[in-house]
Amino acid sequence: MSRIAVVTGGTGGIGTATCQALCRQGRRVVATYHAGNHAGAAAWQQAMQAQSFEVAVYPVDISGFVSCQELIGRVTADIGAVDILVNNAGMTRDSTLKKMSVENWLAVINTDLNGVFNMTRQVFDGMLMRGWGRVVNISSVNGQKGQFGQANYSAAKAGVHGFTMAAAQEGARKGVTVNTISPGYIGTEMTLAVAEEVRQQIIAKIPVGHMGTPDDIARAVAFLCDDAAGFITGADFSINGGQHMG
Ligand code: CAA
Repeated sequence: MSRIAVVTGGTGGIGTATCQALCRQGRRVVATYHAGNHAGAAAWQQAMQAQSFEVAVYPVDISGFVSCQELIGRVTADIGAVDILVNNAGMTRDSTLKKMSVENWLAVINTDLNGVFNMTRQVFDGMLMRGWGRVVNISSVNGQKGQFGQANYSAAKAGVHGFTMAAAQEGARKGVTVNTISPGYIGTEMTLAVAEEVRQQIIAKIPVGHMGTPDDIARAVAFLCDDAAGFITGADFSINGGQHMG
């Protein structure tokens, strides 16, 4: 029977490529979208079907523990137990620290860091009990090096890898791997929100000379979710065109 994968933010830029890569790997894939955007999710699902990718779509607010609990309850009842979780959903609210509001600090921490706990907590015990699981957390180069104008996002994304390392130790004896992928600047809506001039300055500092594509990240996610990847755990994969070498 095919293993079941949940990709949070599955209808977004990196999320879409990740869902496609996991479908190609033979997984039964569930994409979550932000609660409220039902029409957008339905259109996305149709576009995927047109390319022969069968993906179920479910709404969730990953910043809410109960919302995540309800989501996993529904997925488990409708499709089955979750074997693979890709914590991909995230957001930015960029501003310099001197101007950052409490709301913008909390919004990013609640989604980008607490969301990883809220989701993983629902599926981790089941993975341990069944003796197999894959969790991949999408962090960021800016969690590794910090970024001007992103104190909230850099803090949340750095926290994600601490979570990965702790959970990896708890899963190791039970066939459950937990890894981080830290993408650099990828051509998605999130990076396009950065002012053109600032973005060009950032791209000028990327050794390969351009931003990455969602597929650059999705290929690595699928690699880590492979049945044969059981010896890789607690790692942080930098995929950033050489922008930051730790
Ligand atoms: N280093 C040092 N100083 C800098 C600077 C830098 N990188 N960038 C701007 N400054 C200086 C300016 O020269 C200016 O100086 P003065 O006050 O002396 O004139 C000052 O900082 C401007 O400060 P402000 O608080 O007014 O900042 P702003 O409102 O102009 O810009 C910002 C704030 C919009 C957040 C801008 O800094 C920015 O866009 N930063 C980039 C954020 C970014 O990279 N986001 C990534 C989004 S994509 C993503 O996150 C995905 C992923 O994982 C990679």
